[in-house]
Amino acid sequence: MMSAEDLVQRFGSPLYVYDEDDLRSRCRSLLTALPDCAFHYAMKANSNRAILDIVRQEGLYVDAVSVGEVLAAIDVGFSPDAISFNGNSINDEELRAVAETGTHITVDSISQLERYGRLFPNTRVGVRINPDVGDGHHDHVITGGPESKFGIDTDDLEDAWSAANRHGLLVDGLQQHVGSGILDPEVFIRAVEVMLRTADGTPGLSFVDFGGGFGVGYKPGEEDFDVLRFSELLRPILEPFKVKHPGVSIRFEPGRWVVASCGTLYVTVTSIKRGKRHTFVGTDSGLNHLLRPALYGSWHTIENVSRPDARPERVTVTGNICEAGDLFARDRLLPMPREGDLLAIRHTGAYGWSMGSCYNLRPLPAEVMVGPDGPRCIRNAQPPWT
Ligand code: LLP
Repeated sequence: MMSAEDLVQRFGSPLYVYDEDDLRSRCRSLLTALPDCAFHYAMKANSNRAILDIVRQEGLYVDAVSVGEVLAAIDVGFSPDAISFNGNSINDEELRAVAETGTHITVDSISQLERYGRLFPNTRVGVRINPDVGDGHHDHVITGGPESKFGIDTDDLEDAWSAANRHGLLVDGLQQHVGSGILDPEVFIRAVEVMLRTADGTPGLSFVDFGGGFGVGYKPGEEDFDVLRFSELLRPILEPFKVKHPGVSIRFEPGRWVVASCGTLYVTVTSIKRGKRHTFVGTDSGLNHLLRPALYGSWHTIENVSRPDARPERVTVTGNICEAGDLFARDRLLPMPREGDLLAIRHTGAYGWSMGSCYNLRPLPAEVMVGPDGPRCIRNAQPPWT
Protein backbone atom coordinates (compact mmCIF):
# COMPACT_ATOMS: atom_id res chain seq x y z
CA MET A 1 0.00 0.00 0.00
CA MET A 2 1.24 3.49 -0.81
CA SER A 3 2.04 5.69 2.17
CA ALA A 4 0.44 9.11 2.54
CA GLU A 5 3.81 10.68 1.75
CA ASP A 6 4.02 8.70 -1.50
CA LEU A 7 0.50 9.72 -2.45
CA VAL A 8 1.30 13.39 -1.96
CA GLN A 9 4.58 12.98 -3.81
CA ARG A 10 2.70 11.53 -6.75
CA PHE A 11 -0.51 13.60 -6.78
CA GLY A 12 0.53 16.83 -5.06
CA SER A 13 -0.32 18.67 -1.86
CA PRO A 14 -2.87 19.51 -0.61
CA LEU A 15 -4.75 16.36 -1.52
CA TYR A 16 -8.09 14.76 -0.74
CA VAL A 17 -7.76 10.98 -0.42
CA TYR A 18 -10.75 8.62 -0.15
CA ASP A 19 -10.76 5.00 0.96
CA GLU A 20 -12.97 2.88 -1.29
CA ASP A 21 -13.30 0.03 1.22
CA ASP A 22 -14.59 2.34 3.90
CA LEU A 23 -17.09 3.93 1.51
CA ARG A 24 -18.46 0.58 0.34
CA SER A 25 -18.74 -0.78 3.86
CA ARG A 26 -20.67 2.30 5.03
CA CYS A 27 -23.18 1.80 2.21
CA ARG A 28 -23.54 -1.87 3.11
CA SER A 29 -24.01 -1.12 6.81
CA LEU A 30 -27.00 1.09 6.02
CA LEU A 31 -28.64 -1.49 3.78
CA THR A 32 -28.04 -4.23 6.36
CA ALA A 33 -29.35 -2.20 9.29
CA LEU A 34 -32.51 -1.08 7.46
CA PRO A 35 -33.01 -3.58 4.64
CA ASP A 36 -36.55 -2.56 3.70
CA CYS A 37 -35.74 1.15 3.34
CA ALA A 38 -34.39 3.07 0.36
CA PHE A 39 -31.33 5.29 0.82
CA HIS A 40 -30.96 8.37 -1.34
CA TYR A 41 -27.37 9.47 -0.83
CA ALA A 42 -27.34 13.28 -0.35
CA MET A 43 -24.81 14.07 -3.04
CA LYS A 44 -24.21 17.59 -1.75
CA ALA A 45 -21.90 15.93 0.80
CA ASN A 46 -19.53 14.81 -1.95
CA SER A 47 -20.51 14.71 -5.60
CA ASN A 48 -17.29 13.41 -7.09
CA ARG A 49 -18.23 11.08 -9.96
CA ALA A 50 -16.19 8.20 -8.57
CA ILE A 51 -17.95 8.48 -5.19
CA LEU A 52 -21.37 8.62 -6.88
CA ASP A 53 -20.49 5.64 -9.00
CA ILE A 54 -19.50 3.51 -6.00
CA VAL A 55 -22.58 4.54 -4.06
CA ARG A 56 -24.72 3.58 -7.07
CA GLN A 57 -22.99 0.21 -7.44
CA GLU A 58 -23.70 -0.45 -3.76
CA GLY A 59 -27.44 0.01 -4.31
CA LEU A 60 -28.07 3.48 -2.95
CA TYR A 61 -30.17 6.04 -4.81
CA VAL A 62 -29.39 9.73 -4.83
CA ASP A 63 -30.81 12.98 -3.45
CA ALA A 64 -30.18 16.15 -5.44
CA VAL A 65 -30.87 19.81 -4.65
CA SER A 66 -30.05 21.59 -7.90
CA VAL A 67 -30.32 20.95 -11.61
CA GLY A 68 -26.53 20.64 -11.66
CA GLU A 69 -26.68 17.77 -9.18
CA VAL A 70 -29.51 16.10 -11.10
CA LEU A 71 -27.57 16.24 -14.37
CA ALA A 72 -24.38 15.00 -12.70
CA ALA A 73 -26.25 12.05 -11.16
CA ILE A 74 -27.82 11.12 -14.50
CA ASP A 75 -24.44 11.40 -16.16
CA VAL A 76 -22.98 8.92 -13.69
CA GLY A 77 -25.75 6.44 -14.47
CA PHE A 78 -28.56 7.05 -11.98
CA SER A 79 -31.89 6.81 -13.76
CA PRO A 80 -34.19 9.78 -13.10
CA ASP A 81 -36.49 7.56 -11.03
CA ALA A 82 -33.55 6.82 -8.70
CA ILE A 83 -33.20 10.54 -7.96
CA SER A 84 -35.14 12.55 -5.40
CA PHE A 85 -35.08 16.31 -5.78
CA ASN A 86 -35.35 18.45 -2.65
CA GLY A 87 -34.29 21.93 -3.65
CA ASN A 88 -35.56 25.10 -2.03
CA SER A 89 -36.21 28.60 -3.42
CA ILE A 90 -36.05 27.14 -6.93
CA ASN A 91 -36.93 29.39 -9.87
CA ASP A 92 -39.12 28.41 -12.84
CA GLU A 93 -36.18 27.78 -15.12
CA GLU A 94 -34.62 25.30 -12.75
CA LEU A 95 -37.95 23.61 -11.97
CA ARG A 96 -38.50 23.14 -15.71
CA ALA A 97 -34.97 21.84 -16.26
CA VAL A 98 -35.32 19.28 -13.46
CA ALA A 99 -38.80 18.21 -14.57
CA GLU A 100 -37.58 17.77 -18.15
CA THR A 101 -35.16 15.08 -16.98
CA GLY A 102 -38.11 13.10 -15.59
CA THR A 103 -36.91 13.52 -12.00
CA HIS A 104 -39.59 13.65 -9.31
CA ILE A 105 -39.73 16.98 -7.47
CA THR A 106 -40.52 17.73 -3.84
CA VAL A 107 -41.42 21.33 -2.99
CA ASP A 108 -40.90 22.94 0.37
CA SER A 109 -43.34 25.85 0.59
CA ILE A 110 -46.93 26.58 -0.41
CA SER A 111 -45.73 29.31 -2.78
CA GLN A 112 -43.46 26.79 -4.49
CA LEU A 113 -46.35 24.32 -4.65
CA GLU A 114 -48.55 26.93 -6.35
CA ARG A 115 -45.82 27.72 -8.85
CA TYR A 116 -45.14 24.05 -9.54
CA GLY A 117 -48.91 23.61 -10.06
CA ARG A 118 -49.08 26.48 -12.54
CA LEU A 119 -46.11 25.09 -14.48
CA PHE A 120 -47.07 21.40 -14.37
CA PRO A 121 -50.79 21.03 -13.59
CA ASN A 122 -52.23 17.52 -13.12
CA THR A 123 -48.91 15.90 -12.23
CA ARG A 124 -47.37 14.36 -9.11
CA VAL A 125 -45.33 16.22 -6.56
CA GLY A 126 -43.82 15.65 -3.13
CA VAL A 127 -44.18 18.03 -0.20
CA ARG A 128 -41.59 18.77 2.47
CA ILE A 129 -42.99 19.28 5.94
CA ASN A 130 -41.43 20.96 8.94
CA PRO A 131 -41.99 18.47 11.78
CA ASP A 132 -41.20 21.12 14.40
CA VAL A 133 -38.34 18.93 15.61
CA GLY A 134 -34.85 20.20 14.87
CA ASP A 135 -31.37 19.04 15.74
CA GLY A 136 -27.83 19.29 14.42
CA HIS A 137 -24.19 19.95 15.21
CA HIS A 138 -24.59 23.75 14.77
CA ASP A 139 -27.41 26.30 14.43
CA HIS A 140 -26.61 26.68 10.73
CA VAL A 141 -27.61 23.08 10.02
CA ILE A 142 -30.79 22.72 12.09
CA THR A 143 -33.51 22.51 9.47
CA GLY A 144 -36.60 21.64 11.50
CA GLY A 145 -38.44 23.86 13.98
CA PRO A 146 -39.59 27.50 14.01
CA GLU A 147 -36.23 29.04 13.01
CA SER A 148 -35.96 27.01 9.82
CA LYS A 149 -36.73 28.25 6.31
CA PHE A 150 -37.44 24.70 5.14
CA GLY A 151 -40.69 22.80 4.82
CA ILE A 152 -44.37 23.53 5.36
CA ASP A 153 -45.56 23.68 8.98
CA THR A 154 -47.87 20.77 9.69
CA ASP A 155 -50.52 23.33 10.82
CA ASP A 156 -50.55 24.75 7.29
CA LEU A 157 -50.99 21.49 5.43
CA GLU A 158 -54.74 22.01 4.78
CA ASP A 159 -53.79 25.13 2.77
CA ALA A 160 -51.16 23.11 0.93
CA TRP A 161 -53.69 20.42 0.00
CA SER A 162 -56.11 23.09 -1.27
CA ALA A 163 -53.34 24.57 -3.42
CA ALA A 164 -52.54 21.11 -4.77
CA ASN A 165 -56.22 20.46 -5.54
CA ARG A 166 -56.59 23.75 -7.40
CA HIS A 167 -53.90 22.60 -9.84
CA GLY A 168 -54.93 18.94 -10.00
CA LEU A 169 -51.68 17.88 -8.31
CA LEU A 170 -51.37 14.51 -6.64
CA VAL A 171 -49.18 14.80 -3.54
CA ASP A 172 -47.51 11.40 -3.75
CA GLY A 173 -44.79 11.82 -1.13
CA LEU A 174 -43.93 13.56 2.12
CA GLN A 175 -40.39 14.49 3.04
CA GLN A 176 -38.62 16.10 5.99
CA HIS A 177 -35.06 16.76 7.07
CA VAL A 178 -34.61 17.83 10.68
CA GLY A 179 -30.95 18.75 10.56
CA SER A 180 -27.45 17.52 10.07
CA GLY A 181 -25.03 15.81 12.43
CA ILE A 182 -27.62 14.13 14.67
CA LEU A 183 -25.94 11.71 17.05
CA ASP A 184 -28.90 10.59 19.16
CA PRO A 185 -31.24 8.12 17.40
CA GLU A 186 -34.03 8.99 19.86
CA VAL A 187 -34.19 12.57 18.54
CA PHE A 188 -34.52 11.27 15.02
CA ILE A 189 -37.31 8.95 16.17
CA ARG A 190 -39.29 11.91 17.55
CA ALA A 191 -39.30 13.45 14.08
CA VAL A 192 -40.19 10.10 12.51
CA GLU A 193 -43.25 9.93 14.77
CA VAL A 194 -44.45 13.34 13.62
CA MET A 195 -43.97 12.33 10.01
CA LEU A 196 -45.81 9.03 10.42
CA ARG A 197 -48.77 10.79 12.08
CA THR A 198 -48.88 13.26 9.19
CA ALA A 199 -48.51 10.57 6.55
CA ASP A 200 -51.23 8.49 8.19
CA GLY A 201 -53.72 11.24 7.41
CA THR A 202 -52.52 11.89 3.85
CA PRO A 203 -54.09 9.65 1.21
CA GLY A 204 -52.35 8.92 -2.12
CA LEU A 205 -48.76 8.66 -0.88
CA SER A 206 -46.24 6.41 -2.56
CA PHE A 207 -43.26 7.41 -0.38
CA VAL A 208 -42.37 8.86 2.98
CA ASP A 209 -38.87 10.33 3.26
CA PHE A 210 -37.33 11.01 6.66
CA GLY A 211 -34.39 12.95 5.22
CA GLY A 212 -30.76 12.66 6.25
CA GLY A 213 -28.83 13.89 9.24
CA PHE A 214 -27.16 10.76 10.66
CA GLY A 215 -24.09 12.19 12.42
CA VAL A 216 -20.56 10.89 12.72
CA GLY A 217 -18.16 11.08 15.65
CA TYR A 218 -15.52 13.66 14.74
CA LYS A 219 -13.95 14.05 18.17
CA PRO A 220 -12.16 11.29 20.05
CA GLY A 221 -14.75 9.45 22.14
CA GLU A 222 -17.70 10.67 20.05
CA GLU A 223 -19.63 7.80 18.43
CA ASP A 224 -21.29 7.73 15.02
CA PHE A 225 -25.09 7.77 14.86
CA ASP A 226 -25.84 4.14 15.67
CA VAL A 227 -27.86 2.81 12.74
CA LEU A 228 -28.48 -0.58 14.36
CA ARG A 229 -29.90 1.02 17.50
CA PHE A 230 -31.94 3.35 15.31
CA SER A 231 -33.29 0.39 13.39
CA GLU A 232 -34.38 -1.28 16.67
CA LEU A 233 -36.19 1.89 17.75
CA LEU A 234 -37.74 2.39 14.34
CA ARG A 235 -39.11 -1.09 13.76
CA PRO A 236 -41.95 -1.07 16.32
CA ILE A 237 -43.28 2.29 15.13
CA LEU A 238 -42.78 1.66 11.43
CA GLU A 239 -44.29 -1.85 11.27
CA PRO A 240 -47.89 -0.82 12.06
CA PHE A 241 -47.61 2.02 9.53
CA LYS A 242 -46.40 -0.38 6.85
CA VAL A 243 -49.21 -2.82 7.54
CA LYS A 244 -51.72 -0.01 7.15
CA HIS A 245 -50.01 1.54 4.10
CA PRO A 246 -48.39 -1.38 2.24
CA GLY A 247 -47.68 0.58 -0.95
CA VAL A 248 -45.74 3.39 0.72
CA SER A 249 -41.96 3.13 0.47
CA ILE A 250 -39.70 4.46 3.21
CA ARG A 251 -36.69 6.63 2.37
CA PHE A 252 -33.74 8.27 4.03
CA GLU A 253 -31.24 10.77 2.60
CA PRO A 254 -27.95 10.34 4.44
CA GLY A 255 -24.93 12.23 3.15
CA ARG A 256 -22.34 12.68 5.88
CA TRP A 257 -22.73 9.21 7.41
CA VAL A 258 -21.87 7.63 4.06
CA VAL A 259 -18.79 9.62 3.10
CA ALA A 260 -17.27 11.54 6.02
CA SER A 261 -15.02 8.82 7.38
CA CYS A 262 -13.63 7.67 4.04
CA GLY A 263 -11.93 11.01 3.36
CA THR A 264 -8.69 12.59 4.56
CA LEU A 265 -7.30 15.96 3.54
CA TYR A 266 -3.50 15.92 3.48
CA VAL A 267 -1.81 19.29 3.85
CA THR A 268 1.84 20.29 4.08
CA VAL A 269 3.28 22.57 6.75
CA THR A 270 4.67 25.72 5.18
CA SER A 271 5.52 27.87 8.21
CA ILE A 272 5.86 27.84 11.98
CA LYS A 273 5.36 31.02 13.95
CA ARG A 274 5.73 31.35 17.70
CA GLY A 275 3.36 34.23 18.44
CA LYS A 276 2.71 35.94 21.77
CA ARG A 277 -0.34 33.81 22.52
CA HIS A 278 -0.32 30.95 20.04
CA THR A 279 2.08 28.84 18.05
CA PHE A 280 0.83 29.01 14.49
CA VAL A 281 1.44 26.09 12.16
CA GLY A 282 0.73 27.37 8.63
CA THR A 283 -0.19 24.98 5.84
CA ASP A 284 -0.63 25.00 2.07
CA SER A 285 -4.44 24.62 2.31
CA GLY A 286 -7.17 26.52 4.14
CA LEU A 287 -10.85 27.33 4.46
CA ASN A 288 -11.05 27.29 0.66
CA HIS A 289 -10.55 23.50 0.85
CA LEU A 290 -12.15 22.68 4.18
CA LEU A 291 -14.60 25.30 5.40
CA ARG A 292 -16.16 23.39 8.29
CA PRO A 293 -13.80 24.51 11.10
CA ALA A 294 -14.05 28.19 10.09
CA LEU A 295 -17.80 28.14 9.42
CA TYR A 296 -19.07 25.98 12.27
CA GLY A 297 -16.07 25.70 14.59
CA SER A 298 -16.08 22.00 13.66
CA TRP A 299 -13.48 19.65 15.09
CA HIS A 300 -11.50 17.46 12.71
CA THR A 301 -8.83 15.18 14.10
CA ILE A 302 -5.38 16.22 12.83
CA GLU A 303 -2.39 13.89 12.81
CA ASN A 304 1.23 14.65 12.12
CA VAL A 305 1.95 11.95 9.55
CA SER A 306 5.63 12.81 9.12
CA ARG A 307 6.56 13.07 12.78
CA PRO A 308 4.02 11.15 14.90
CA ASP A 309 6.46 10.74 17.77
CA ALA A 310 7.55 14.36 18.09
CA ARG A 311 6.96 16.00 21.47
CA PRO A 312 3.36 17.24 21.60
CA GLU A 313 2.79 20.98 21.79
CA ARG A 314 -0.30 23.14 21.67
CA VAL A 315 -0.55 24.65 18.19
CA THR A 316 -3.04 26.55 16.07
CA VAL A 317 -3.19 25.02 12.62
CA THR A 318 -3.97 27.60 9.96
CA GLY A 319 -4.25 27.86 6.20
CA ASN A 320 -2.78 30.22 3.62
CA ILE A 321 -5.92 32.28 3.04
CA CYS A 322 -6.05 35.97 3.87
CA GLU A 323 -8.61 35.73 6.66
CA ALA A 324 -7.94 35.62 10.39
CA GLY A 325 -10.58 32.90 10.71
CA ASP A 326 -8.70 30.61 8.36
CA LEU A 327 -8.06 27.88 10.92
CA PHE A 328 -8.21 24.10 10.97
CA ALA A 329 -7.73 23.83 14.74
CA ARG A 330 -7.14 26.21 17.63
CA ASP A 331 -4.60 25.44 20.39
CA ARG A 332 -4.61 21.73 19.60
CA LEU A 333 -2.09 19.31 21.14
CA LEU A 334 -0.08 17.90 18.21
CA PRO A 335 3.31 16.22 17.79
CA MET A 336 5.21 19.43 17.08
CA PRO A 337 5.44 19.82 13.29
CA ARG A 338 8.30 21.25 11.28
CA GLU A 339 8.15 22.90 7.87
CA GLY A 340 7.58 20.27 5.17
CA ASP A 341 5.70 17.87 7.47
CA LEU A 342 2.55 16.25 6.18
CA LEU A 343 -0.60 16.59 8.30
CA ALA A 344 -3.69 14.41 7.90
CA ILE A 345 -7.06 16.05 8.56
CA ARG A 346 -9.51 13.21 9.12
CA HIS A 347 -13.20 12.68 8.42
CA THR A 348 -13.21 15.14 5.58
CA GLY A 349 -15.03 13.05 2.95
CA ALA A 350 -18.31 14.91 3.60
CA TYR A 351 -18.73 18.64 3.00
CA GLY A 352 -15.00 19.02 2.35
CA TRP A 353 -14.22 19.40 -1.34
CA SER A 354 -17.93 19.98 -2.05
CA MET A 355 -17.90 23.20 -0.01
CA GLY A 356 -14.55 24.25 -1.37
CA SER A 357 -14.00 27.43 -3.34
CA CYS A 358 -11.39 29.21 -5.38
CA TYR A 359 -11.18 32.10 -2.89
CA ASN A 360 -7.88 33.98 -3.24
CA LEU A 361 -7.68 32.30 -6.68
CA ARG A 362 -6.12 29.18 -5.24
CA PRO A 363 -6.86 25.90 -6.99
CA LEU A 364 -9.12 23.27 -5.45
CA PRO A 365 -7.05 20.22 -4.52
CA ALA A 366 -6.92 17.02 -6.53
CA GLU A 367 -8.88 14.01 -5.28
CA VAL A 368 -7.62 10.44 -5.17
CA MET A 369 -9.50 7.20 -4.56
CA VAL A 370 -7.54 4.39 -2.99
CA GLY A 371 -9.14 1.14 -4.11
CA PRO A 372 -8.17 -2.53 -4.32
CA ASP A 373 -5.96 -1.79 -7.35
CA GLY A 374 -4.18 1.08 -5.67
CA PRO A 375 -4.70 4.84 -5.89
CA ARG A 376 -6.28 6.62 -8.82
CA CYS A 377 -6.80 10.29 -9.44
CA ILE A 378 -10.54 10.96 -9.55
CA ARG A 379 -10.27 14.72 -10.11
CA ASN A 380 -7.33 16.90 -10.97
CA ALA A 381 -6.61 20.06 -9.05
CA GLN A 382 -8.97 22.73 -10.38
CA PRO A 383 -7.22 25.89 -11.51
CA PRO A 384 -9.50 28.82 -10.71
CA TRP A 385 -8.41 31.01 -13.58
CA THR A 386 -9.87 28.88 -16.39
N1 LLP B 1 -31.45 15.89 2.77
C1 LLP B 1 -31.59 17.23 2.75
C2 LLP B 1 -32.82 17.79 2.22
C3 LLP B 1 -30.55 18.05 3.22
O1 LLP B 1 -30.71 19.36 3.22
C4 LLP B 1 -29.37 17.46 3.70
C5 LLP B 1 -28.26 18.28 4.18
C6 LLP B 1 -29.26 16.06 3.69
C7 LLP B 1 -30.32 15.31 3.22
C8 LLP B 1 -28.02 15.33 4.14
O2 LLP B 1 -27.71 15.58 5.46
P1 LLP B 1 -26.55 14.73 6.16
O3 LLP B 1 -27.00 13.30 6.19
O4 LLP B 1 -25.33 14.86 5.35
O5 LLP B 1 -26.42 15.32 7.51
N2 LLP B 1 -22.33 21.72 5.40
C9 LLP B 1 -22.80 21.15 6.64
C10 LLP B 1 -23.94 20.19 6.42
C11 LLP B 1 -25.11 20.83 5.69
C12 LLP B 1 -26.18 19.85 5.39
C13 LLP B 1 -27.25 20.45 4.55
N3 LLP B 1 -28.29 19.56 4.21
C14 LLP B 1 -21.62 20.51 7.37
O6 LLP B 1 -20.51 20.52 6.85
O7 LLP B 1 -21.79 20.02 8.48
